[in-house]
Amino acid sequence: MYCVRKVTDDLYWVGANENRLALFENIHPIENGVSYNSYLLLDKKTVLFDTADWAVCRQFLENIEYVLNGRPLDYLVINHMEPDHGGSIEEILLRYPDVTIISTEKAFMIMRQFGFKIDGHTLKEVKEGDTETFGKHTVTFIAAPMVHWPEAMVTFDITNGVLFAADAFGSFGKLSGRLFNDEVNFDRDWIDDARRYYTNIVGKYGPHVQLLLKKASTILGSIKIICPLHGPVWRSDFGYILDKYIKWSTYEPEEKGVLIIYASMYGNTEAVANNFATRLVEKGITNIKMYDVSKTHVSFLIADTFKYSHVVLACVTYNLGIYPVMHNYLEDMKALNLQKRTFAVIENGSWAPKSGSLIREFLDEQLKEITVLNDEVSVLSSLNETSANDLEQLADALVDSIKEA
Ligand code: FEO
Repeated sequence: MYCVRKVTDDLYWVGANENRLALFENIHPIENGVSYNSYLLLDKKTVLFDTADWAVCRQFLENIEYVLNGRPLDYLVINHMEPDHGGSIEEILLRYPDVTIISTEKAFMIMRQFGFKIDGHTLKEVKEGDTETFGKHTVTFIAAPMVHWPEAMVTFDITNGVLFAADAFGSFGKLSGRLFNDEVNFDRDWIDDARRYYTNIVGKYGPHVQLLLKKASTILGSIKIICPLHGPVWRSDFGYILDKYIKWSTYEPEEKGVLIIYASMYGNTEAVANNFATRLVEKGITNIKMYDVSKTHVSFLIADTFKYSHVVLACVTYNLGIYPVMHNYLEDMKALNLQKRTFAVIENGSWAPKSGSLIREFLDEQLKEITVLNDEVSVLSSLNETSANDLEQLADALVDSIKEA
């Protein structure tokens, strides 16, 4: 049975929701599911914008069949061919063999790499600035390399102001029937998933997102609706999501606040983290989030690292090194190009505490534009009077740094 939504008079959402997949890209937990968005335009010609993941192909095909209502499918525009969107291209070709696929040269190349049987069908390569008219609608194509793969483009419908934004402005989370941003409480129910999606999937490519935002700024006044490939469609309040994208892509924190990540084997480093958080609160800092690095998937840690201005790393020493799960988190920060944060480091060790110096070295050498507070806290197994005094000094330094930020 079909399940579609009207976006405009002649444009339909024909995507589908996925709620059985545990890990997006087989790495990021998606407890709230995810939607694969695809859009079908009924003009003089019929045009499908992107396909969907193979897992939801049956629903996707039923939706297309219903909306086409016996009409042929004339065009398939592929803005982004990564298999969570391009996975059903071949199925579309099997059912609508006369369709013309419009995409970039690189997208066609990668489709062939994946073994998609596109040759023998009508393929039309487009590049930045090209236009295509389907009847009353004329669209223009805008290159969006590395948002989030190199072949990506976005398509802007000049006639009605709809921007098909590919992965940009997307989010984890299933739609539950509510397609538009004004049908949900985005800031309450969606922003955490949107941030976790952006930071972990596109976070590394901030400069490329900046470039796309710069291009989009020239048509900003003409954009009426933003149709991403995941999550809600935006038809109001563009300033809200643009502000988030500007902050995320420039690696500026969203909030003055403290993220405390601790790695603890027997609870002593956890106790230090709790003690430190309590000191901060008593000094007036209440915007605090604390995680056990071993119990929280790193994608959540990364999302909140993009959110908060200050990060406290409290880490036990393990095999004379950084606790492996903490090390993984640090490596992910590096991989995702995290910048512009202030760090405080607390180490623990029972006979040769080393994690603090190693973490400092990593932060200094591997991350850009960061500050590591000078005050050092080295705990020997558990907090004592000496290390508690050091903790108090570090708390003061952190509070001063937040006030200055
Ligand atoms: Fe949702 Fe880059 O694919």
